Amino acid sequence: MRFAAKEEALVNAKTDVLVVGIFSGPKGMDASAKAVDRKLKGALKDATSFADFDGGLGKTLFVPATGLAARRVLAVGLGDPAEFDAQAALRAGACAAKECSSARLSSMALIPFRARRMNVRDAAAATAEGIGRACYDPGIHHTQGKAKRPKFVSRIQFCAKSASELSLVREGARRGEALAEGVNFTRDLINEPSNELTPRILARKAKALAKSSPLLSCRVWGEKEILRREMGGLYGVGKGSDEPSQFIHLEYRPRGSQRGVKTIALVGKGITFDTGGISIKPSANMELMKFDMGGAAAVLGAFHLLAALKPRIRVLGYVAAAENMPSGKALKPGDLLRMMNGMTVEVNNTDAEGRLVLADAIHYAKSQKPEFIVDAATLTGACMIALGDVACGLMTEDDDLAKLILDAGKSSGDPAWRLPLQDAHREQMKGHVADLINTGPREGGALNAAGFLSYFAKGVRWAHLDIAGTVWADRAKDDNPKGGTGFGARLFYSIAEKASG
Ligand code: BES
Ligand code: MN
Ligand code: ZN
Repeated sequence: MRFAAKEEALVNAKTDVLVVGIFSGPKGMDASAKAVDRKLKGALKDATSFADFDGGLGKTLFVPATGLAARRVLAVGLGDPAEFDAQAALRAGACAAKECSSARLSSMALIPFRARRMNVRDAAAATAEGIGRACYDPGIHHTQGKAKRPKFVSRIQFCAKSASELSLVREGARRGEALAEGVNFTRDLINEPSNELTPRILARKAKALAKSSPLLSCRVWGEKEILRREMGGLYGVGKGSDEPSQFIHLEYRPRGSQRGVKTIALVGKGITFDTGGISIKPSANMELMKFDMGGAAAVLGAFHLLAALKPRIRVLGYVAAAENMPSGKALKPGDLLRMMNGMTVEVNNTDAEGRLVLADAIHYAKSQKPEFIVDAATLTGACMIALGDVACGLMTEDDDLAKLILDAGKSSGDPAWRLPLQDAHREQMKGHVADLINTGPREGGALNAAGFLSYFAKGVRWAHLDIAGTVWADRAKDDNPKGGTGFGARLFYSIAEKASG
């Protein structure tokens, strides 16, 4: 896919499809839409005034481009201008790209979708991001050749009115393209089957990512080092598997002087497959548990974005990667673990493994003294049941950090919804023969899991994101085919950008 920006009236663009954004209501057409309509002798106005096109957000309608250089005109609904924002521009961009792609048209031209109060750069970024996200093929392992795979619109021209607007459009398009690439990179990791993405392969991918930018670095601890460092949670969860666990460290350092640069840490759950272990899961839908490394994917995706967009903040990333398997060497219910922070845990359910690997990762992140830590994990079915696929759960006792994350969620399109985290949730996790148990009551399952983690985040600003419901789409959406959504990478990146000030 190639994005270009040009100072040119939309109506004159030489392309397969002229994409025209139209708001709902009687004044939906702007000057450039009207110019296209004049060339078409009123055919655009005519076609879009029937009931099948009401300008609703994401609605599309092809119109023949008689008399124009283009082959088609595509009307794209932008909805109510009063409600139009970056998220709406992203969706409209995605719908336009999907429509052109399924019609097998390979180039399109458009003016970045924008309401009057939005700036041009943000509009171009959101529109480009939507286009880039919609053109994602999850068929990473199809062998029948490209011919059988979905074809996407590949050349996109953004039209700008003036030279000054042109540079903003160009800048925005670059940002949007980079954002989409980061999200699509994250989706690939999620969609990858667990035999193709073991903890070691995940670590190798993190190293390759770091190699691709001078601003990134990566170190990996193998199983021996994990044991030597007394990460009892991560070691214990992984020891039932033939695949050795890995602890991945990533670092992003901005260019230039490091004076006054803040440091934050991102932590991801990297269970490359979760069978449940000895407390084994039922087999129905178990194949989905390849997405149990969604938090890890979000961390790697965030570093992909950091390297591309280079904000002025230092970011540490930690991934606790393991495979949760039953075997003769596996953890058994009731077993005791000694965690990196010295606490002991009675494992009353081996399927509550995510919190065990995260606890050590959070503790280690804390030792690096970041300003704050945010972890992301596909941690509980309970969170998925509570919030569905629209927002992830956010649990923290730090109101300022909560506000920063909720804001980042809104602007990134990866929204978070705050859930309570209180002493009562911590209390539930106290143990009988050990300090803690890893599984509390079923009721409030997402909150109890956060309560467990909070013992390992004492004394540091910390927030937990439960992304169990948001990393996977059971059905295709406008900007996302069925499968991994890439949720979290964009949110992590926005958190970093906001924290950089
Ligand atoms: N990875 C799962 C959580 C999960 C389940 C995510 C379904 C998405 C869909 C996690 O490791 C797990 O098994 N959690 C248990 C915890 C319970 C044993 C306390 C759960 O949610 O059932
Ligand atoms: Mn589990
Ligand atoms: Zn899990």
